[in-house]
Amino acid sequence: MIHDDPLQTAPHTPTDSPTGDALPWKPKVHGRKRGFLTPREKLWLDETLPELLPPVAPTRRELLQALEADPDSARLVLEVGFGNGQFLTRQAAANPQDRFIGIEVFQEGMAALIRRLQREGITNTRIIPDDARLVLQERIPPESLDWVVINFPDPWPKKRHHKRRIVQPEMLDLLARRLRSRGLLTLATDWEEYALWMADTLENHGAFENLAAPDRFAPQPEFWHETRFELKGVHAGRRIHHLVWRRKD
Ligand SMILES: C[S@@+](CC[C@H](N)C(=O)[O-])C[C@H]1O[C@@H](n2cnc3c(N)ncnc32)[C@H](O)[C@@H]1O
Repeated sequence: MIHDDPLQTAPHTPTDSPTGDALPWKPKVHGRKRGFLTPREKLWLDETLPELLPPVAPTRRELLQALEADPDSARLVLEVGFGNGQFLTRQAAANPQDRFIGIEVFQEGMAALIRRLQREGITNTRIIPDDARLVLQERIPPESLDWVVINFPDPWPKKRHHKRRIVQPEMLDLLARRLRSRGLLTLATDWEEYALWMADTLENHGAFENLAAPDRFAPQPEFWHETRFELKGVHAGRRIHHLVWRRKD
């Protein structure tokens, strides 16, 4: 949790949590948090982010109603680590009836997403500026998510850094409880060894099933939109691996 940051308006104690369960491990976010924001941009971000926080609600129905969506037909979609928001913006623009929540710790990325949303007049997207593991535990109601996206999570290639990876059994425990039955979990990476790690971790977890053939990565999904990170990987000669899984019934 980024305690020293004024942006942290989300509740952080389990007592505030609509979900009620305690984190079984202590998360620590590694990597860049601020980026190249001028003091003026930082001030603007501090003022704008609170308006974009989703309401706290105990159930999926109440959350979607508070977001002015039809709980019987709208999807609730969450992207973990949206970066500069390219993928999230495209999805939100293409699916105005759905509601999107983006979670990110990198402030320059948050600013980039807000600018995109404003430029394109997109109003179905909210932002939570915090560690995705805490957000899932504290802000997201149980069995509420139709789709969770994790695109190009930091690969932490050195073996001694593997514990920093976001895809871990404990993260999958959280996702299994926040996804609806048969809710989608899609992941993409240009790092083959991390792709295999993700597939093994999902397989061993037991709550998810692979929608591609067993022991296979998925072809590029129809919903796919290219991002800067994808291009970086492709230019470096790396292949993109897609994982399309869902929570079992
Ligand atoms: C390699 S970037 C990929 C960005 C984006 N998904 C894309 O495809 O362009 C990984 C992003 O995950 C964010 N991130 C890392 N750990 C996180 C966490 N625990 N909670 C939320 N975001 C996180 C980083 O700040 C970074 O922006």
